[in-house]
Amino acid sequence: MANHVTKAVIPAAGLGTRFLPATKAMPKEMLPVVDKPAIQYVVEEAVAAGLHDVLMVTGRNKNALENHFDRNAELEDTLEKKGDTDRLQKVNYSTSLADLHYVRQGDPKGLGHAVLRAKMHVGREPFAVLLGDDIIDSRDDLLQHMLDVQHRYNATVVALMDVPRESIHLYGAAAIEETGDDDVVRITGLVEKPDADKAPSNYAIIGRYVLRPEVFDVLERTEPGRGGEIQLTDALQSMAQAPDWTGGVYGVVFRGRRYDTGDRLDYIKAIVQLAVDREDLGPELRPWLKDFADGLHDEPREILDEMPTDAADAPEDVNR
Ligand code: UTP
Repeated sequence: MANHVTKAVIPAAGLGTRFLPATKAMPKEMLPVVDKPAIQYVVEEAVAAGLHDVLMVTGRNKNALENHFDRNAELEDTLEKKGDTDRLQKVNYSTSLADLHYVRQGDPKGLGHAVLRAKMHVGREPFAVLLGDDIIDSRDDLLQHMLDVQHRYNATVVALMDVPRESIHLYGAAAIEETGDDDVVRITGLVEKPDADKAPSNYAIIGRYVLRPEVFDVLERTEPGRGGEIQLTDALQSMAQAPDWTGGVYGVVFRGRRYDTGDRLDYIKAIVQLAVDREDLGPELRPWLKDFADGLHDEPREILDEMPTDAADAPEDVNR
């Protein structure tokens, strides 16, 4: 059955401050996960669920993102002349992957603000939102299931994960009711990044949404919330409380593999977890990794400085 949803929106305009200085001149969504930028996994996921019309919300440093999905005649020419068809195929694949569109966010005023920038492109139909730094393992189904649930309930649907209580403050947390449907819950309330003792549950919103277009009406009226940003979670909370005209909000509980590449530790884990299962890298990486792990101590034997000592001591205004 063809999907009733055809458009995907990928917000990729955040500042990526957790990854500075790597993200000083490059969006964090372009950081390589093994040998593909994180954003390509996300576009591939949208396409695999039948969403070929992809709108990317970009910020400053957007060039790298656009260039990655555009042709590179010089590179193609060189690979062709060398007869390197394997790499040429990889280069061409990212160019023809999806029907890509771009919109600028201007100031990064929060995820809700980024989603609102998609209003003109999306129109009055349900659409998917996939966060550009959040990777769902392609071996685990999530988005297609969410599209089906959206169709069945004619509601807004978010992806939820059961996270340890000590991590809930990093996410939007959901208050839920059972629906009787396996892995599907009704969301009665949402709180953005709550303290552990104030969280309504351990169900955290992760970076996949299928939204009804009423979200735009709600976002237009949503005041800046936590961190002075327009929070998508706040808009979803309003929608959950007004099911009459928004259709309400449902959660699909995801138990598969997810990698938050916007977080440095998770990013490193993502590369290792994906590389060990790769045909081309796994056979050499797995035994090396085992050896390495065997030789690990609880404490490092020698601390590796984040910054060279001279740089750390440099005066703040180096242009004086
Ligand atoms: P994050 O909160 O992880 O992004 O947003 P960030 O602000 O770039 O991260 P740090 O904390 O400074 O490192 C999740 C997703 O929403 C996008 C980001 O690009 C990321 O894909 N986003 C966030 C926007 O597009 N616009 C915004 O204003 C904020």
